[in-house]
Amino acid sequence: MLSSSLSFSHSRSPRVVCFFLFLFLFLLSFFCAHKPVIYLFAGQMNVLVTGGSGYLGQFLIERLLTLKEVNAVHYTCSSESSKLPENVHEQHKRRLVCHACDFETGSGIEECVEKASKGEYLAGDKNLKLVVNCTALSQPKQCEENEEKACKVNVPTYLCQVLMRKYEGSEQKVPLLVHMSTDQVLCGSYSNTREDDTRENAFEPINVYGRSKKYAETYLLKNYDQNALIILRSSVITGPQPPFRRVDRPLFLDFIAKTCPPNTQGRNGEGEENEEVKDENAVEFWTDEFRNPVSRIDLTEAIVYCFEIFVGLRRKRDVSMFLFEEEGERSNRTPIYHAGGPERLSRYDMVTIFCNTMRASKKRAKPAVKSKTTSFCIASMVRTPADISMDSTKFMKILRNGVQLKSFQEQVLDSTTVYLSAVLGNSR
Ligand SMILES: NC(=O)c1ccc[n+]([C@@H]2O[C@H](COP(=O)([O-])OP(=O)(O)OC[C@H]3O[C@@H](n4cnc5c(N)ncnc54)[C@H](OP(=O)(O)O)[C@@H]3O)[C@@H](O)[C@H]2O)c1
Repeated sequence: MLSSSLSFSHSRSPRVVCFFLFLFLFLLSFFCAHKPVIYLFAGQMNVLVTGGSGYLGQFLIERLLTLKEVNAVHYTCSSESSKLPENVHEQHKRRLVCHACDFETGSGIEECVEKASKGEYLAGDKNLKLVVNCTALSQPKQCEENEEKACKVNVPTYLCQVLMRKYEGSEQKVPLLVHMSTDQVLCGSYSNTREDDTRENAFEPINVYGRSKKYAETYLLKNYDQNALIILRSSVITGPQPPFRRVDRPLFLDFIAKTCPPNTQGRNGEGEENEEVKDENAVEFWTDEFRNPVSRIDLTEAIVYCFEIFVGLRRKRDVSMFLFEEEGERSNRTPIYHAGGPERLSRYDMVTIFCNTMRASKKRAKPAVKSKTTSFCIASMVRTPADISMDSTKFMKILRNGVQLKSFQEQVLDSTTVYLSAVLGNSR
């Protein structure tokens, strides 16, 4: 019995193999008539990172390029001159596309969205599935100098209008829009503010940058599809220099690294805690301004997670139940998330953790109370809110899928290249 079934399967198998081989060749030749074989296995979706030439944008582009489901990563910058280096484009060939757009006037945005919605080997013109808006006039001083410009650049009216118009009356969903906002939309008088905080004026920004970012939130909540919108209020973003091109401003950790050189006494960082400040020109770090520095890794991973859920590449876990609910099932969900790190830290706390972690000297950093400082220097500075620490539990549970957010010490370690380059720079 056994031998007869074996001989039967032996005699059948060459025919079965031939059949599947024939079927495979037939399908291959059919598809190849439409696109080269290599594209049979390429991604079917496009994504767009506006402000992709900036700090966070570059990390996002790098991460999105690793997703095999992504056909092409499109990004915008303000002009041709800030396009990412040619060798980066060369390395990623057709998968990385740059568009110069002006968010102040809207010029170039429609063409960019049109191009990012198509693909050489993709059917139709609605292949854009994710837009991350990192475009901003992000330096508070620049905003203060030109409020009108700050509002035009920071409120993505043109982008929102172009996207909504394109999908009007269409069966297809608008792309997921992740908009980067900031903790500076908070007033600065309270600790650990939650998204649904009801304390008086909790969300009344005190400078132009904060106000322009608040207008942006209000505009998007009113005008974009709420089931395809995520607003991330980020705190100070930490990390090394971005992967493709350095940004032309000092990063906060860069600044600390330059102020706090390696401890040449051979003492460990802990021992320096009580070190007497001897340097008269020591840099003042506020002890009464609080932030929740957040890792660029936590932000990029949260965005990728949302995207994967939105396009059905991942199943929602229970905690994410109310991400992108269909109309009708809606609760009072607002798509705003406080995206800060797990610790509420003053600027001086950050210096202390940095020095302890990197065994650096704190001699040139001294604690100072901003609210008691009356120097001329302070008067000429942009007003910054004192305590804009945030409770980011909702962000961690829903957008980081319950993963613990990186501590400041882990963020310092992630950015060690910052420190090394500062140290090498000092010793030259
Ligand atoms: N970095 C932080 O610590 C932090 C903290 C909280 C919130 N955020 C928010 O996170 C987002 C990303 O921040 P980031 O640090 O990556 O910003 P960034 O480095 O300053 O990058 C800003 C981007 O916006 C583009 N841009 C500026 N003006 C433009 C205009 N008129 N038209 C078109 N594009 C223009 C820049 O293009 P060019 O390269 O051509 O100039 C650049 O790509 C921003 O929304 C920011 O408010 C950042």
